[in-house]
Parts: sequence; structure tokens; C-alpha cells
Amino acid sequence: MTEPKPLLAVLRGKSTEPPPLWLMRQAGRYLPEYRDLREKAGSFLDLCLTPEFAAEATVQPIRRFSFDGAILFSDILVIAKALGRTLAFRDGDGPSLPPLTNMNGLSSQPDAAVLAPVYATLRLAKAALPASTTLLGFAGGAWTVAAYVIDGSGRNQFAEARRWIAEQAVIVDQVIARIADATATHLIAQLDAGAEAVQIFDSWAGLLTPEQFRRFVIGPTRQIVDAVRARHPQAPIIGFPRNAGALYAAYFAETGVDALCLDQSVTLEQARALQAHGPVQGNLDPAVLVTGGATLDRAVDDILAALRGRPFVFNLGHGILPETPPAHVERLVRLVRGGP
Ligand code: CP3
Repeated sequence: MTEPKPLLAVLRGKSTEPPPLWLMRQAGRYLPEYRDLREKAGSFLDLCLTPEFAAEATVQPIRRFSFDGAILFSDILVIAKALGRTLAFRDGDGPSLPPLTNMNGLSSQPDAAVLAPVYATLRLAKAALPASTTLLGFAGGAWTVAAYVIDGSGRNQFAEARRWIAEQAVIVDQVIARIADATATHLIAQLDAGAEAVQIFDSWAGLLTPEQFRRFVIGPTRQIVDAVRARHPQAPIIGFPRNAGALYAAYFAETGVDALCLDQSVTLEQARALQAHGPVQGNLDPAVLVTGGATLDRAVDDILAALRGRPFVFNLGHGILPETPPAHVERLVRLVRGGP
């Protein structure tokens, strides 16, 4: 039987022509229909945790661009809320939490009531999507979520989280282990609710030394991958240790993720070498999508020339920027799919 979902097929190791395509943060402020929905919902968190609204946000970019993947509309920090942290998003200022002072501030199990709307969102989105679209769940990497939980925000390069690493690394191990546990539970529940693959966003992996990277990124990710795979052996897991540089190869081999998402600092030679180990996804610079024109055409051609023909998913190297013109996204879709 042939797999009717190109993205799922590639994540399982096939190669397709044209390659499947989706964009990180494909639902968001660059879309007028998202801005309307966001206003209707009130706050960003209300939007995330109201299933009808969140499912609509999940499906909006598919309606407009027929991407091969629809990513759950939610946030990596919802898990921190489920573990008892107070979470707020201030407009234009990103997430904000009260900084953690000790382990008592972090529940040992996620509160199922906080996360139930996420799974309801997946069920609604699944029912609304075309048969060829792959529904993606996601979570933050345990290190990245821990960095926000310890620090309280991303405003100061996670100085407090890095101070904890320097001064009390064993406590950081405990925080990360608890978050990794909750994250595995959360991803399993997303797959139970209809997600067909999941991505782990370790956005701040690049802040760590190689030794710290092995301890706080590779180790806990392996733990999450093993737990999820035990329950959902067929569901591909994409890992995104952003800005991991020379450590991407070790991450790919040692965590056991099925596919690797690459940021835009990775050269196409490096990306091609990583493809020998499994499917890769990426890595157009989001700023180039804002620029558009001949710059966009050339960058897309270069990526396709280097990576097509082997398992490859077209994506950005990080989330789409709010100032991106939707017409440039249309152009990108045509370029990747070989239209005029
Ligand atoms: O990709 C998608 O379309 C699905 C939804 C999604 C969001 N956040 C929605 C969102 C996903 C996959 C995320 C992941 C996420 N959230 C990450 C990892 C990826 C990355 O960007 O590095 C991180 C670090 C977060 C935490 C977070 N959430 C930050 C730092 C911010 C503020 C930055 C910003 O863009 O405003 C958010 C807010 C957020 N998450 C928005 C969206 C659409 C913007 C909120 C709004 O509508 O006002």
C-alpha cells in the first residue's frame, strides 16, 4: 500500500519528488485570518487552550497554502503551566513565568486538566484536515523548557539557568528529568489523540557547551524518545536542537530521533552529510522569506539542489517572522512544488 501522506512517508525514510513542505510557526501573526482569530480569543493562551480556536489556527495555513504538515497550535510552555508554573504571554515580549526557586515549585506529574484542551484540539484538527496532510504534535526539549522555567523569561540569554548549571548542576538534572517525564507523557497523549508524528523543539540547545549538551540535551531527549517509541513505535519523531552546529550528528545518532530539523547556520554540505544518517528538514533562513524576490528564488534552488533526491522535508531554519508577506509564502510553495 502506498502512503498517501508525503510528509509521513519521508519521515519514515522514503524520498519524494517534490519534497514535502511545511513551515515552523506557519500559523501566526503574518496571516490576517490568524490576527482576527487571536483578537476573538482574547489572549494568546486563551487561543492555545480553547480547542475550537486552536484547531482553527492549526488548519488556517493548510487552507491557504496546502502544506504537507499541519502543526498543532499550542506552545512549548503549556507543559510548564501543567507542572504548576504560572504562565503569561505579554504582547511583544514573549513568555513570562515566576522564576523557579527549588524543586517544590514543580509538580511531579502534569495536571491533566490543563492539557486536555490540547488533545481536544488535535481531534478537531484531524477531522478537518485533507487526507494527504500529516498532523504534527510537538513539545519543547526538556532543556529549553527548563531554561524558561528556571529563568522566568528568555530576555537575558537564560543567565540564571546557566548560573544554576554552573553552581548546582544536579538540581538542573532533577528539573530536566521531571520535565522530560512530563514531556513524554504529553507527546504520547498527543499521538493517542491523532497526531501522526511529533517534533521536539530544543530552541536553546546552542547555548550549551558540548559537555552540557550531552548531559542536558542528548540524555533527556533519548529518555523522551525511548518512552514515546515504547507506546507509539510507528510515529516518527523529529528532533530540533537549534544551533547545535557540530553536535547535530551526535544528537541524531545518540537520541534515536527519526529525522533531524536543521537551523539556517548549517551549511548545505553539512546538511547533505547528515542525510546519510536519516531524513533532514530545513533550513531556509526566515529572513530570506521576508525579502522574497530573486534572493528567495536562489536560496530555495540551492537547498533543493543539495538535498532533494534523498529523504528531505522543506522547512525554514526557525519560525516564520511576523513581517513575512503571505505572497512570499505562496511563491515558496510554487518554487518547491515546481510550479510556474
Ligand atoms: O509552529 C506553529 O505554527 C505551531 C505553534 C507554535 C507556537 N509556538 C505558537 C506561538 C509552536 C510550535 C511554538 C513553539 C515555541 N514556543 C518555541 C520553539 C520554537 C522557537 O520559536 O524557537 C518556543 C521557544 C516558544 C516560546 C514562545 N512562545 C516564545 C519565545 C514566544 C514569543 C515570541 C513571539 O513570536 O512572539 C511565544 C509566543 C507564540 N507562540 C506565538 C505563537 C503564534 C506568538 C503569540 C501571539 O500570537 O501573540
